[in-house]
Amino acid sequence: MLNWDAFNEPEEHIAPPPPKQAKSEEPQQQLAIEPAPVAEVADPTRFEPTGSAAFEAAQQALEQLDVAPGLEELEMGADRVQVDQKRMINCRADLNQLVPFKYEWAWTKYLDGCANHWMPQEINMTQDIALWRSNDGLSEDERKIVMRNLGFFSTADSLVANNLVLSIYRLVTNPECRQYLLRQAFEEAIHTHAYQYCIESLGMDEGEIFNMYREVPAVAKKAAWALKYTQAIGNPQFQTGTTENDQELLQNLIAFYCVLEGLFFYCGFSQILSMGRRNKMTGVAEQFQYILRDESMHVNFGVDVINQIKNENPKLWTEEFQAKMTQMILEGLALEIEYARDTMPRGVLGMNAQMMEDYLKFITNRRLTQIGLSEQFPGVENPFPWMSEIMDLRKEKNFFETRVTEYQVGGALSWD
Ligand SMILES: [Fe+2]
Ligand SMILES: [Fe+2]
Repeated sequence: MLNWDAFNEPEEHIAPPPPKQAKSEEPQQQLAIEPAPVAEVADPTRFEPTGSAAFEAAQQALEQLDVAPGLEELEMGADRVQVDQKRMINCRADLNQLVPFKYEWAWTKYLDGCANHWMPQEINMTQDIALWRSNDGLSEDERKIVMRNLGFFSTADSLVANNLVLSIYRLVTNPECRQYLLRQAFEEAIHTHAYQYCIESLGMDEGEIFNMYREVPAVAKKAAWALKYTQAIGNPQFQTGTTENDQELLQNLIAFYCVLEGLFFYCGFSQILSMGRRNKMTGVAEQFQYILRDESMHVNFGVDVINQIKNENPKLWTEEFQAKMTQMILEGLALEIEYARDTMPRGVLGMNAQMMEDYLKFITNRRLTQIGLSEQFPGVENPFPWMSEIMDLRKEKNFFETRVTEYQVGGALSWD
């Protein structure tokens, strides 16, 4: 708690105010008789530094400051930004003006993300530590699932964060979306923190976990696949503005939002949440449930951005490009099925690799249709109905709207 007494210091040591400058209150006529220095009249805000040569040098440097070049092609005195000037990409209007909003949904998601704020240390890991240390609390297959998922996620969230701040942020030319991207970037940092917190709490070999993306093929392939799509736009020289480059950015958004965050996370989420439902590793599972809640919103935001770019730039959405994106998403599905088989060589936690394959196809159908592509697995059903309340995107919005007060900072999640 802040204590305002700390700021209420005795006032003896505070220098008395300077003597009242009677002259300034005197009539103008008298000022005219005794002219003030020209500089003071010309610029009443001018500040004359005293105290050190460095401070004086700082003031002199400020006198050389030309305001306009620091504001990115900003024309000083230009008209204020109007809503219809705003665009998701290639916008020429001033990006420093948050309002008026054009994309209200982006601002709403920013507010929702803030309302859902949480920190990993708020979650009790005591039972997990005892279970992890015991010799017979978990089967080898269950231990493998915990290790593999911490290994994959600990790197994947870093890849997402890097892509956000080093590539996407500068190319998305809309301030309310950038505001959400900043919130998302912090959430990705919290997720990486959560994995580190789990790994440290459980006393795992940190080197083994954090290097899985280079040492375990099923994990490494997913990371390598994602990195491929961030290379071109991650080049500082990359600029949008041509059909080819705008498609490159759109491809990156689909790869990261629909596949990496929208598909690659879902085998691991369902495995860890299934463990939590069985009253095992409930601290890790609760961390993952908070992360899933954030990730659901990241995917929804990404889908909205992708569809908005399509609407504003219909020439990008050619049949050829649609076929390419469908194939890209299916590549992701194949990698996630491989990952499911690697992490679940046998049935475990009431699930097996075949059920997971159906589940991933179900999620893939959803991702494809969300951005206007055709379903590839008609009729496939969700084999994990217990996941649907949290993960089924058709219910997801309602899920969070109706329960949002449960998720304010410090609130615990319950297992139904
Ligand atoms: Fe994340
Ligand atoms: Fe995310």
